Amino acid sequence: MATLSKETLSGNLVKQFKKTRAQTLELVKTLEKDDYVVQTAPYMSPPKWHIGHVSWLFEILLSKALSNYEFYSEEFSKYLNSYYHQFGEPHEKAKRGIISRPTVDEALEYFNTISDRVINFLENNSPNKEVSTLFTMGINHEYQHQELLVYDLQHLLADGYRPVQKNPQPTTGSMEQKSIKIEGGLYNLGYSGSDFCYDIELPEHRVYLNNYKIDAFPVTNQEYVKFIEDGCYQDYKYWLSDGWDVVKANKWEAPMYWEKENGKWIIHDFLGKRNINPNEPVCHVSFYEADAYSKWTGKRLPTEAEWEKAACWNKEKQTKTIFPWGNELPIENKANLLESYIWACSEIGSYPEGKSHYGCHQMIGDVWEWTCSEFTGYPGFKTGFSEYNDKWFSNQKVLRGGSFGTPKLSIRSSYRNFFRLDERWMLSGIRCAERV
Ligand SMILES: [Fe+2]
Repeated sequence: MATLSKETLSGNLVKQFKKTRAQTLELVKTLEKDDYVVQTAPYMSPPKWHIGHVSWLFEILLSKALSNYEFYSEEFSKYLNSYYHQFGEPHEKAKRGIISRPTVDEALEYFNTISDRVINFLENNSPNKEVSTLFTMGINHEYQHQELLVYDLQHLLADGYRPVQKNPQPTTGSMEQKSIKIEGGLYNLGYSGSDFCYDIELPEHRVYLNNYKIDAFPVTNQEYVKFIEDGCYQDYKYWLSDGWDVVKANKWEAPMYWEKENGKWIIHDFLGKRNINPNEPVCHVSFYEADAYSKWTGKRLPTEAEWEKAACWNKEKQTKTIFPWGNELPIENKANLLESYIWACSEIGSYPEGKSHYGCHQMIGDVWEWTCSEFTGYPGFKTGFSEYNDKWFSNQKVLRGGSFGTPKLSIRSSYRNFFRLDERWMLSGIRCAERV
């Protein structure tokens, strides 16, 4: 069984909680008050809502741990409940931007008050294993919202956002895409460690894989432009029927945030309005686009089992590791995650130290990678927190690997993200596979 070798969540819950809350506040620190309240699309949420919602979830956890717990405000709870029917009728997601109360100041005061309550609870009680797991989940839930904040800040402000920390983007020059052969056979899919993971990563179970090949790098902008220039957005034959309907209805001609100016593709993101970098992984593509691209290349998307084996199976040692490079928590020279503070993808080949045992690069960080697997419970799935993950087991596909917006303490190779097939405001990209 693999275990994390350095700092772990269970090691010091209060310390981890404080660091997480500080990181959330850092993400919004440079915002103007007006930025906090605007909802620019029905699928994103105003920063004020995220700040409140992550605190509300901790109130839910406090109410589970303390039978006499009194909620801060009934009005706040109603607005800040995302989708949990067990806690009352939630406020409509697409209308989070039409509510002016709580004010921004009130939401921040609420955030700090709930932080104090959680710290007070954890310091003055000795939480049993069950309660510790619940609060660890609360911290991981906040990591998820930190990443959602990154997506939403990109939508709201792009380069108008001024991060507190910003590092230069590493460059490597052009790297050659290649395919890596991986032998089939039985593989144990799922989380095998002893630290926190979500219920959907369990139970670890055996699956059979045929021999396959998987790309060493995520698909780059340069590769994806060829798909565009080949007229594929105008040709039904590469698209699933539902995908083709979406392409036509939305007049898609390229990934989200791309525009053509004077014959050149431009992206507008955290780094500004700039020519697309041919060596960066393509980002902001839907499942439909990922699937169509892979079909155009004569390949396909990997299943999540194929992805996971390529990411963390060590053939020599016949063992699985938590990350592609081993069991050490992500560090700067191994992956581009939120704490790299690059605010963009790194060029392919930027993290040779982070490659998997098979030689696949950037499986953790940069872009989430679409798989062709349906998001559903593994055989024997048992819910860890009702309505959190399990009610989304329909019409969603699994993505693996994390992105440049993913907090480093939240990601591992067994992590299963999920989105609907037409969503693309998140940091999603492509890695292709094929049958040998
Ligand atoms: Fe949430």
